[in-house]
Order: sequence, then structure tokens, then C-alpha cells
Amino acid sequence: MPPLATLRAPAKINLSLRIVGTRADGYHELDSLFLPVVGLCDTLEIHAGAAGAGCVVEPELPGVPLDKNLVYRAWAAFSRATGFAPDLTIRLTKRIPTGAGLGGGSSDAASLLLWLNAQARDKALAPAQLNTLAARLGADVPFFLLGGPALAGGIGEVLTPVELDLEGLVLVVVSPEVHISTPWAFAQWDARHSTTTPILYQEFLTSLETTHKRRISLLPAIVRNDFESLVFDAFPGLLTIKEELLRKGAVCAALSGSGASIFALFRELNVSIEAVTAMRASGLPVHSEALKHWGVAKW
Ligand code: C5P
Repeated sequence: MPPLATLRAPAKINLSLRIVGTRADGYHELDSLFLPVVGLCDTLEIHAGAAGAGCVVEPELPGVPLDKNLVYRAWAAFSRATGFAPDLTIRLTKRIPTGAGLGGGSSDAASLLLWLNAQARDKALAPAQLNTLAARLGADVPFFLLGGPALAGGIGEVLTPVELDLEGLVLVVVSPEVHISTPWAFAQWDARHSTTTPILYQEFLTSLETTHKRRISLLPAIVRNDFESLVFDAFPGLLTIKEELLRKGAVCAALSGSGASIFALFRELNVSIEAVTAMRASGLPVHSEALKHWGVAKW
């Protein structure tokens, strides 16, 4: 039987990630610029399931029982919220490295939510309701509902779509076989910080809008990640990768999310190819793609 649909769930990087506050519930307020990585995707093949079977996700992810699988949790949360609960078998092909700061699980969940919402007709949720439901599944899930770059505030769910002109840049993402737990990274940050830093990026992005031609040259200034020093202390090999990418000619490089992926931006394809070749030669998984001009995503 052909699938009902095949969904592509892209990865993301955080071009910038700053932790700007702590909430009473222990979550952290962020100021982050998210970018979809459209060439690095998981796929979800959606098949009609056996009557009454609910949602089955195949294959089972190692160490992740079904009720912890974000795809299943998205189906369960959507069906509870709307009463729309189609029986589905979902074949999930993971290409986005897990525990890598690339948002794979969150993107899988968001792509299923968007598909379910499109099928739900009169039971469909309004964008704001879908956003709230997504945020309960995980702080990164709302971003993937958008389909474009966005500035994220709150715990990641307060999103401002932005226009971002990255045409002419090549993205390289190196994902070493190191899995970093996000709660661990936030706990490390808490242990080191009693005060917070001021928010700068809203101001920065406003200036981007008026100085179109200067966007790219400004990028090195925004590419930074507040997790870096603590993650690099615990995993010095990641700092070595960042330094190597810069030595090989990257304009800028940083950790994505709480790691462990390191991304870099290059201005010249040839230079990026040399860097990718060198990284792969040392056994590291690397994704690379040419970036583009992103218009403002519409909800
Ligand atoms: O929301 P998500 O499940 O992705 O978050 C995993 C963990 O990371 C949370 O339980 C929380 O400890 C931490 N977190 C946080 N502040 C955020 C996002 C996540 O403290 N903005």
C-alpha cells in the first residue's frame, strides 16, 4: 500500500543561542536565532493503521519506549486536544543525528502535528493553539511549525519569523558521536551563573532589516552560543572541531543547541569542500548545504 503521505522533517541549527533568564519552573528564557537545515531531514511515511490500533511508530528507537517517542506523543496530544485520532502506522527514517542539538525529534513531532492539523478539517486547531500544544511537547517543537528562520524568545515558543539572507554561504554541520543531555547542559549553566546577560538580538535584527547588504558580514557577530564554554570544558574534542573549522577558513563556527553538533559558515564552496573532506577523513559525520535567502515564514 502506498503511504498516505511522506513528510520531510528538517533539522535546525541555532545561529545564536543566549540564555537570558531562569523561570520559576526551572525552564530557561532564551534569545535564539533558529535556522532550518532543509537538506538534512528525517522522513515520516504515514500509513493507514489497523482499526483501533491508534498510533504505531516503526522502528522503535533504541532506548526510547513508544510513550516517550515524540512522534507518538505528538499524535496522542493532538488526538486528546481535538478528538481527531486516526489509526496510523508511521515509518520513521532518522537521518538527523540524535542528541546532537539539531532538533530531530522536535521536527518529527512538528511535521506530524502539521499533517494531522491539515487532515482534521473542522477539528483543526488555530495556529496559536497548535503552537501551545507543540510547546508542551518540547521547547523546540513550535519553531518547526513555522517553516523558516525565526527569533525565539520565552523558552523557545515565542517566535518572530525573520527574513534572513544567507545566499552565497555554505553551511557545514559536524556531528560527533557525543550525546549531550539538554537538562544536563542547563544544570551546568545554572551552576555557573547567578545573573543573566541582557538581550541584544532584537536590536541586532532590526538593524539587519535596514542594512540588507551588510547582513552577511554581520553574521560572525551574532553566531555564538552560551552553552559553549561549559560544554567545551566537559567535551574538549568539540572545541577542537570548532577551532579546526575556523582554521580551515570558516567565517564563523559555533555549537548548535546544547550540542554536540558544531556548525560553520563558509563563504567559498571550495574552501568548505576542503574542510568537509578533512572532517570526514577523520571519521566525523558531516552534513553540508548551500544556504539561501529566506523570506519571512507565514504561520
Ligand atoms: O522542552 P524540552 O523537552 O526540549 O527540554 C528538555 C529539558 O531542557 C527541560 O526539561 C529543561 O530541563 C531544559 N530546558 C530549559 N529551558 C528551555 C528548554 C529546555 O531549562 N528553554
